[in-house]
Amino acid sequence: MSKLKIAIQKSGRLSEKSLELLKECGIKFPNGGGKLIAESKNFPIEVLFLRDDDVTKYVEQQVADIGIVGENVYLEANLPVKVLEYLGFGSCRLSLAVSKEVDYTGITYFEGKKIATSYPFILEKYLKQQGVNASIEFISGSVEIAPSIGLANGVCDIVSSGSTLMSNGLKEVDKVLDSQAVLISNQALGEEKQVLLDKLLFRIKSVLNAKERKYILLNAPNDKLEQIISILPGMKSPTVLPLADEGWSSLHSVIQEDQFWDIIDELKALGAEGILVAPIEKMIY
Ligand code: PRP
Ligand code: ZN
Repeated sequence: MSKLKIAIQKSGRLSEKSLELLKECGIKFPNGGGKLIAESKNFPIEVLFLRDDDVTKYVEQQVADIGIVGENVYLEANLPVKVLEYLGFGSCRLSLAVSKEVDYTGITYFEGKKIATSYPFILEKYLKQQGVNASIEFISGSVEIAPSIGLANGVCDIVSSGSTLMSNGLKEVDKVLDSQAVLISNQALGEEKQVLLDKLLFRIKSVLNAKERKYILLNAPNDKLEQIISILPGMKSPTVLPLADEGWSSLHSVIQEDQFWDIIDELKALGAEGILVAPIEKMIY
């Protein structure tokens, strides 16, 4: 029986969330940290724990079949692998930053200057697009100390909470790209592995769909039902059940997380009462 091999970050921003996603897909692993390979007990999958910078390469070379990696790292690797899904966690941006003392007026500040980064490929492309000539100093880690030790005039690095920049006396001045965790795959999986991948993808999609949505339950006056239903699309259409109280119905539906507060306001304005909103664990179409 063939097994799917998935590469994820060993330790870092994406590690825990990557494992959590597999767990939410019902895939269990034996406990015991520190291992570099873990095999699931209930799904034909093996996890390889790697440095995030290596994930894309290993997937391309079929050491792993699929991988979870930051889109920033995938783009920097510039290798022919497929992006299967945006995973909605590990959000960050790749940004240019300079010392907070600098009087920054625009991207032309970097003309003729030196920028330290672990993302030379993406940065070079960006500077070219912007028509700026700057030299790029590649460093693989601790990029944010480069300006203070006189190695560069600025940095191009990942910003998530912004605390790394702040504690190094830097300020973010220009965003190069937005990034989040992506699921990537080798372009030539065999048929058996493809079957397993489809099974896993189906589960991942159900988990992601559920995260974007909320289950909503409310009581509505019958004379406002039609209007209320029109703003609650649901998976097909909302479920309406009569309440013991005459003239009232109970309504069940599903709403998009990002429309949540707008819809709640509209519902209240239409006379909805007893509004209950609950998370959804899985959502299967
Ligand atoms: C990035 C970056 C900073 C940190 C920024 O590292 O190099 O160290 O995250 O996060 P903050 O804005 O929340 O302080 P990354 O997670 O990409 O790790 P790696 O470069 O060691 O793989
Ligand atoms: Zn890394």
